[in-house]
Amino acid sequence: MSNSESARITIDTKRVISEISPLLFSGFAEHMGRCIYEGIYDPTSPQADEQGLRKDVLAALRELNYRSMRYPGGNFVSGYHWEDGIGPKDQRSARRELAWQSIETNQFGTDEFIQFCREIDTEPMLAVNLGTGSIQDAVNLVEYCNAPRGSKYANMRASNGESTPYGVKYWCLGNEMDGAWQIGHLDAVEYGKKAREAAKLMRLQDDSIELVLCGSSSSKMPTYPEWDRIGLELCWELVDYHSMHYYADNLADDTPSFLSLSAAFEDYVETVAAVLRYVKAKTRSKHDVRLSWDEWNVWYKAREISDMRGGWSEAPHLIEEIYNLEDALVVAQWLNVFLRRADVLKIACIAQIVNVIAPILTTSDKILKQTIYYPLLMFSQMASGNSLDVLVEAPRYETKQFGDMPLLDVSSSHDEAAGMNAIFIVNRSLTEGMSIEIHWGDVTPKRISSAHQLSGNDPKAFNSWEAPNRLTTRPIYAPKIIDGAAQLSLPPLSFTVLGVEL
Ligand code: AHR
Repeated sequence: MSNSESARITIDTKRVISEISPLLFSGFAEHMGRCIYEGIYDPTSPQADEQGLRKDVLAALRELNYRSMRYPGGNFVSGYHWEDGIGPKDQRSARRELAWQSIETNQFGTDEFIQFCREIDTEPMLAVNLGTGSIQDAVNLVEYCNAPRGSKYANMRASNGESTPYGVKYWCLGNEMDGAWQIGHLDAVEYGKKAREAAKLMRLQDDSIELVLCGSSSSKMPTYPEWDRIGLELCWELVDYHSMHYYADNLADDTPSFLSLSAAFEDYVETVAAVLRYVKAKTRSKHDVRLSWDEWNVWYKAREISDMRGGWSEAPHLIEEIYNLEDALVVAQWLNVFLRRADVLKIACIAQIVNVIAPILTTSDKILKQTIYYPLLMFSQMASGNSLDVLVEAPRYETKQFGDMPLLDVSSSHDEAAGMNAIFIVNRSLTEGMSIEIHWGDVTPKRISSAHQLSGNDPKAFNSWEAPNRLTTRPIYAPKIIDGAAQLSLPPLSFTVLGVEL
């Protein structure tokens, strides 16, 4: 096929990859910059509710329907003492926070986070400090959150207002411990042993919890994937998930390659999944460990040292990346990859949720939805049930980084109970529209009941306070199904989502 020809997508609801874990649509909130303070929690804002939470932010987060929320870091967690953030607020001390050189007031801590999660109906996912923190601190936090009244930390929770255990199920064993930048950084064996003991004791405290081991902090790390093998070999039986982190960039301003980054994401999953298989075989285990991609996003425009140092102020403006159309198309492909690798990926948390490399920006009384908000919204609303192995026959184009790549990037889900099929299509071309035909192999759909599109001419265009709706997903004409097939024209630089009633 040449670039001027059409493409063909074939869906077969029997070609199931895996059930889609709802936790693939999760978020990450760190005590960094203005994510927690001013973003989520700001008692001085006209938007604050009686708990100090921002009502407008809560509404947007509810719309995105994050299924779980990772907290409190990130690099922050490796120097965090959770006991600083509980109890009467006027008795909590401020601290000099080393990861981001900011002042942490501790006005928002574990109890406020749980309240926040309840407000947006999401599962909390707590990270423990394995940098400066001890194994005992981690175990005490599990007791504080999950034990019934009758012991020191459970009673502390009760006297702070909550006698019923929080029942926090998901726990991360530290953060990016392979990174030299990490407070209390460890080598692979040191980390593996510390994580193993922490996991053992945390499980003794509550054997219903599920644990996430720290994988390499990116596939670009020199220790990758050896770090992953060592940690997994030491901890295999005690953990349920292994983490991946990755921040995408277009520093080379090579948009054709940037728009093919799904190739890098898939390669990363493939490699870590291979390490999982290797360790499972080597340890002769019957246990399975899955992947938790618990930090992912585009991040490169706000990455100077000055973007990451708070000058010892409260809630400084740190890494408030502005997202454009090409970034949103990369985010859409990332979500496509989550569906295509739903067999092994079970958790994924966009980093982060408000202000700090986030889909939402705030002023004291307003919010702005950035371009990346919209693919997140579409997947969160539409992808459910099983992910499908889709046949895509599309023209190809040449990229510097990945060679020859298809112009379309596609995923699809099938929710049998709801009788719905969703199709997510990115047209990577900067210049060419694409006429596509969609065929269904095993079913004849009733109709296409919804069709939405995010598109534009300029890959660098973004939403601003002056033009907040320049780029949003807009309803488009839903094509008719004729003789079991649908035809549609996709503009260049576009992301299209179809909801199909079966
Ligand atoms: O999300 C920002 C930072 O990126 C996180 O704190 C850290 O884990 C990663 O390096």
